[in-house]
Amino acid sequence: MSLRDKIEELKKIEKEIEQGGGPEKVEKQHRAGKLTAWERLELLLDPGTFVEIDKFVEHRNTYFGLDKVKLPRDGVITGVGEINGRKVAVFSQDFTVMGGSLGEMHAKKIVKLLDLALKMGIPVIGINDSGGARIQEGVDALAGYGEIFLRNTLASGVVPQITVIAGPCAGGAVYSPALTDFIVMVDQTARMFITGPNVIKAVTGEEISQEDLGGAMVHNQKSGNAHFLADNDEKAMSLVRTLLSYLPSNNAEEPPVEDPDTSLETPEDILDILPDNPNKGYDVRDVIKRVVDHGEFFEVQPYFAKNIVIGFARIQGKTVGIVANQPSVLAGVLDIDSSDKAARFIRFLDAFNIPILTFVDTPGYLPGVAQEHGGIIRHGAKLLYAYSEATVPKITVILRKAYGGAYIAMGSKHLGADMVLAWPSAEIAVMGPEGAANIIFKREIEASSNPEETRRKLIEEYKQQFANPYIAASRGYVDMVIDPRETRKYIMRALEVCETKVEYRPKKKHGNIPL
Ligand code: HXC
Repeated sequence: MSLRDKIEELKKIEKEIEQGGGPEKVEKQHRAGKLTAWERLELLLDPGTFVEIDKFVEHRNTYFGLDKVKLPRDGVITGVGEINGRKVAVFSQDFTVMGGSLGEMHAKKIVKLLDLALKMGIPVIGINDSGGARIQEGVDALAGYGEIFLRNTLASGVVPQITVIAGPCAGGAVYSPALTDFIVMVDQTARMFITGPNVIKAVTGEEISQEDLGGAMVHNQKSGNAHFLADNDEKAMSLVRTLLSYLPSNNAEEPPVEDPDTSLETPEDILDILPDNPNKGYDVRDVIKRVVDHGEFFEVQPYFAKNIVIGFARIQGKTVGIVANQPSVLAGVLDIDSSDKAARFIRFLDAFNIPILTFVDTPGYLPGVAQEHGGIIRHGAKLLYAYSEATVPKITVILRKAYGGAYIAMGSKHLGADMVLAWPSAEIAVMGPEGAANIIFKREIEASSNPEETRRKLIEEYKQQFANPYIAASRGYVDMVIDPRETRKYIMRALEVCETKVEYRPKKKHGNIPL
């Protein structure tokens, strides 16, 4: 055979592999509202940039008739491509090939890719669409998952890892996505659960559909396992491209600078957001959008623990991570879920050199038996831990209420904030004026001939004395009390000053964050 003949043969083999599970299975995939593994990659990556690795890998198991079946690419496409001109490592499970099930060689391909990403310092994007461990391969499949979990953990905090769930992801298979930084789930087609409806019915008697158990909205809203909801595969890929635009390729790099907005101005109508009545809520995103570049805020986990808002934005073209209490939901209290949500995000920001910008308006931690018994002490502690541990620039703006433990937790000076700004509307105290006055003036109120009037007078007195930013500012706990119309300018200046920030921590193997 001449070299030209051999090239012809190569093309033939490649063509066969590219058929995946064949036209029927592709048709079934499309009927289910899903794109194929290859179509997804085409949407995700810059055109013509994909370089495939391990296209010729085959399984080598012989149990249960596997010796008689060919599984193209062993059910997963792996390789390196570009997103907005930056290199990324990608894998995309091919459901048309034995349900995208994970066997020994399928796992080895993913492991090789993760090793490569770690060595080259490039983000990893995994598109999951799989029936889980390839049952015929038994312990070889389980071993494969274990090897992937180890790599996910080693890569954590070194390169960003993003998962798209675009089909089933069941059993232990869910733990690889869970170990990554962000999970995007596609509405109606994505499913994640440890045990499916049938097992649940057999064990506990509960009846539930797959969608209600582990659909995209359930994990975005209830469990908090997912970070983004996409209407379909196309939207999921475009979401990943946007997310990556905010992130550095690895922990030794800065995020890319994009479309810097050099304006110092904060719009005048920022003064109209806070209601005159301090017990009324407002949408903190209205404040965020008036402060960040071009009013663009890319929210993360918008459906989960809505009493805290997290997400990415840019100041002068540079990425910042935003954490803000949301007064329009549960008055912006901190609770178990909001503490978990914010703490994990803060740790991501710190790992990837992204400054933290915090907006505070919270009446405190949520009281209640369910919260106490649910472990608010250890969950709330995560937030303190994450802020204290973070060495990236930390800028905090106190908009209104900053009471008690929540004042400390929300990026206070005491946990190492580099710049704490307060609006004149800030109320910094151990607790709200009503509660505080009722306790410290209890006897005076009881002894008074007109307890209600005395109570009102003493509450007002307390407010004058404590519910303002000036006492905290007089101690230096607040660096500046500012005109809200200068918020953007102060944040810009603070971030510029922080550009050369270096902060050392005692040498240790790793800390022990309360979990
Ligand atoms: C081998 C599998 C498979 C698997 C699916 N297939 N899952 N083959 N191992 N885990 C095959 C099917 O036999 C079928 O082959 C093809 O893939 C497509 O599957 P369908 O059932 O036709 O598709 P659909 O109706 O869409 O249902 C998808 C599904 C279902 C819900 C994922 O296939 C299913 O329940 N699969 C089993 C899921 C499971 O229990 N996995 C093990 C989890 S335990 P043909 O030839 O008919 O096209 C686990 C442990 C990991 O993962 C532990 C790590 C620590």
